[in-house]
Amino acid sequence: MSKIAVIGTGYVGLTTSIGLASLGHEVIGYDLDPAKVEMLQAGKLPIHEPGLGEILIAGIKSGNLQSTSDLSEAVADADFVFTCVPTPQDDDGSADLSYVISASVAMKDLLKPGAIVVTKSTVPVGSAQVVENAIGRSDIEVASNPEFLREGAAVHDFKHPDRIVVGARSTEISQKVMDLYSQIDCPKLLTSQETAELIKYASNSFLAIKLSYVNDVAVLSEAVGADPFEVLQGMGLDTRIGNRFLEPGPGWGGSCFPKDTKALESIAKSFGVDLPLITAAIASNEISHKRVADRLAKALGGSLNGKTIAVLGLTFKANTDDTRESPAIAVIEHLIKGGGEVVAYDPMVSSYDLAGLTVAPSPVAAANGADALVVLTEWSEFSEIDCAEMLAAMTGSVVIDTRNVLNKSLWQSAGATFPSSETKRVV
Ligand SMILES: NC(=O)c1ccc[n+]([C@@H]2O[C@H](COP(=O)([O-])OP(=O)(O)OC[C@H]3O[C@@H](n4cnc5c(N)ncnc54)[C@H](O)[C@@H]3O)[C@@H](O)[C@H]2O)c1
Repeated sequence: MSKIAVIGTGYVGLTTSIGLASLGHEVIGYDLDPAKVEMLQAGKLPIHEPGLGEILIAGIKSGNLQSTSDLSEAVADADFVFTCVPTPQDDDGSADLSYVISASVAMKDLLKPGAIVVTKSTVPVGSAQVVENAIGRSDIEVASNPEFLREGAAVHDFKHPDRIVVGARSTEISQKVMDLYSQIDCPKLLTSQETAELIKYASNSFLAIKLSYVNDVAVLSEAVGADPFEVLQGMGLDTRIGNRFLEPGPGWGGSCFPKDTKALESIAKSFGVDLPLITAAIASNEISHKRVADRLAKALGGSLNGKTIAVLGLTFKANTDDTRESPAIAVIEHLIKGGGEVVAYDPMVSSYDLAGLTVAPSPVAAANGADALVVLTEWSEFSEIDCAEMLAAMTGSVVIDTRNVLNKSLWQSAGATFPSSETKRVV
C-alpha cells in the first residue's frame, strides 16, 4: 500500500482521497480552505455526494484517511501527490492553470525525492510540461490521471469506472500510478501525457455534442408533432447510438462541460485546428436555455412581464448540491430578464444570490401564487409531488417539464396545461 497526498478536497479530491483510502492506501488530504479541513477532520462531508460520507467515516476509523491544512505535513512522506485543484475557464475560453501552477510551486521544495505528482484536474494538452517546469526538480516525475466521475454517482464511478487512464513520460511511471488502482476491475489505459490530457476533453466534449443534438432533435420532434421522448427512445435502441445520455433537457451545464468544451476549442485553435462541431454544440446549448423562457412566455400570452414563475430544481443535475454553471440558473436568468419573478425549490439548495430569484422551503411554497411551473432539474422526488396541491396553490395552470419527471397525464387530469407543440409547417 502507498502513501498518498491529495491536494484540493473538492468534489474530485474528496472522492479520490476517500476512494484511495478505501482501497487500503494511507491518504492525507490537504486543502487551502481551513473550514473544509475542519469538517473533514470531524468526519463531515462539505459537499452532498451520495454514499461518500459513509466511506469517509470508515476511512477515518481505519486510520487510512487524514486531513490537514499543513501542506508540508501532507506531502512530506507521500510517494504520490494527486493534484485536484480547480481549472476554471479563463477570459479567452482557455483553461486557467494558475491553481495547478501555484499548488505545484507551493509543494516543490516539500516533495520527497522520487515522488510522483499526478494531475487529476482537467488540464489542457501540454500541462504536464507546465507542472514539470513549476516543480523544476529532475527527481520528481509527473503523470496525468484524468478524472471521469459524475457528481451524484461519484462513489459508484470510483469503484466501477468505465476506464482508468494514466499518462506519463514512461510506461514504468504510468504503471506505478495504475498499480494504485490494482483492486479496481476495468479497462486500464497507459498512454502518453498528451493522450491522457486529450482523452478527458475529447470525452466531455463528445458528451456535450451528444446532448446538444438530443436537445435539437427534441425541438424538431415538437415542431413536427412527434413525441420527443419516444423519438429519442427509438434512437437509443440502436446499439450504435445507445440509450444513455439521450434525455432532452433545458441545456447542459455543470462545473465541467461548459469550461471543458471552451477549453477544447481553445486547445484546437492553439494548434491551428478547426472544430466546427464543438462550436456549434456550444451555440445550440446557449439557445436551449433561452428557448425554455421563450416557450413559457408564449404559453403565458406572449410575455413574462409581471409573471410569477415557480421553478423546481436549481442544481445542474439531480443528486448533487452543485449549482456551478447550472442550466437551471441559466434558464432562470432568461425568465428574470423577460420580466418574471422566480420562486424556486431544490432539495439541496436553501439560498441563491440572484436578484429576482427567491428560494422556497418546499415545492408548494414555490408554487404559491405562481402563474406557471417549470421543472428544470430531474430530482426523482419531483415525480412524487402532489399535483392537486401544487395546482391549487398556483394562480395559473401552465406547466413546462423540461426533464420529463412529472406524470403528465396525472397532472393534466388535475388541471395542468402543458403548452402544446408547434405543428405548423413554415414552408
Ligand atoms: N466536479 C466534477 O464533476 C469533475 C469531474 C472530473 C474532473 N473534474 C476536474 O477536477 C478539478 C477539480 O474540480 P472540483 O469540482 O473537485 O473542484 P472544487 O472547486 O470542488 O474543489 C477544488 C478544491 O481545491 C482547493 N484548492 C484550490 N487551490 C488549492 C491549492 N493551491 N492547494 C490546496 N487546495 C486548493 C479548493 O479550496 C477546493 O476545495 C477541475 O479541474 C475539474 O475540471 C471535476
